Amino acid sequence: MRLAVWDEDQPFRRWRDALAQHAAELRLSVQVVDAAAEPDAQADFALVWKPPQEWLAGQQQLRAVFNLGAGVDALLPLMRSHLPEVPLIRLQDAGMGRQMADYVAEAVLHAYRRMDDYAALQSRATWEPLVLAPRGSFHVGLLGLGQLGMAAARRLQAMEFPLRGCTRSGVAPAGCDFPVYSTDRLYEFLAACRVLVVLLPLTEATHGLLDYAALGQLPRGAYVVNAGRGAVLRAGDLLDLVEQGHLGGATLDVFDTEPLPPEDGLWRHPRVRVTPHVAAQTLVGPSAAQVMRKIAALERGETPGGVVDPWLGY
Ligand code: GLV
Repeated sequence: MRLAVWDEDQPFRRWRDALAQHAAELRLSVQVVDAAAEPDAQADFALVWKPPQEWLAGQQQLRAVFNLGAGVDALLPLMRSHLPEVPLIRLQDAGMGRQMADYVAEAVLHAYRRMDDYAALQSRATWEPLVLAPRGSFHVGLLGLGQLGMAAARRLQAMEFPLRGCTRSGVAPAGCDFPVYSTDRLYEFLAACRVLVVLLPLTEATHGLLDYAALGQLPRGAYVVNAGRGAVLRAGDLLDLVEQGHLGGATLDVFDTEPLPPEDGLWRHPRVRVTPHVAAQTLVGPSAAQVMRKIAALERGETPGGVVDPWLGY
């Protein structure tokens, strides 16, 4: 079978070598093609991160498309000529869960230990111990409880923060033993979050969900962490609420426009921390292993995990 890889972020040979190794372990015979170098080669499976639409549309024999990341919002609109006959399959964790848990844990501790307040005191050479909230009252809310949301939740639970979650359906995922709200009750969920961690997929339903009115439901001084997709949150509204003193600050990894333009006020705000979409990066080794296992499942006539529902958008 032929696998075509299109990924501008990673060198092709890294994918080729990792895929070939895992194919050999699974006794699958594969030819891995660099789609950018051989755009006309027809493949059975496409492994892509932000491919050109014309190339994808020209692929006539595909049996499945694998998204080399967790979020499929950029790829779904390019798949119109293939869906639903050709399934779109996304990565599930594949080493991103631990990275996301690290990122979220750091941001929650940053907020809990009032590090922005200490930075402000340091800038005035002021020695002033601040009150620490009792751990049990410091509720962290996770908006989105997919693979990455649950990895973050497990880490925060090990750190003994009380949690609450919010998802589209309001159904608690397996292994989740804290209260879960549906997005119909978003405002009720937000009202008790000292830190809000946003890990929702970007869909029609989540676009702009966290606007001025929604963010205003958070308690005074609350902190916001967005490591999902930028367009879920209106960053201008967030900044207004931070400036008005209603919100305590934010750690943001994702933005409506990426790279975040140099003139954007988020870069310079003392209570906003900006990282360049690095919270959970695709790791070639674990991702290639997972994709090859999913291809082996398809070969056996099974449905692998991670098949995207085009109507839900994730
Ligand atoms: C990164 O943002 C991803 O979707 O994997």
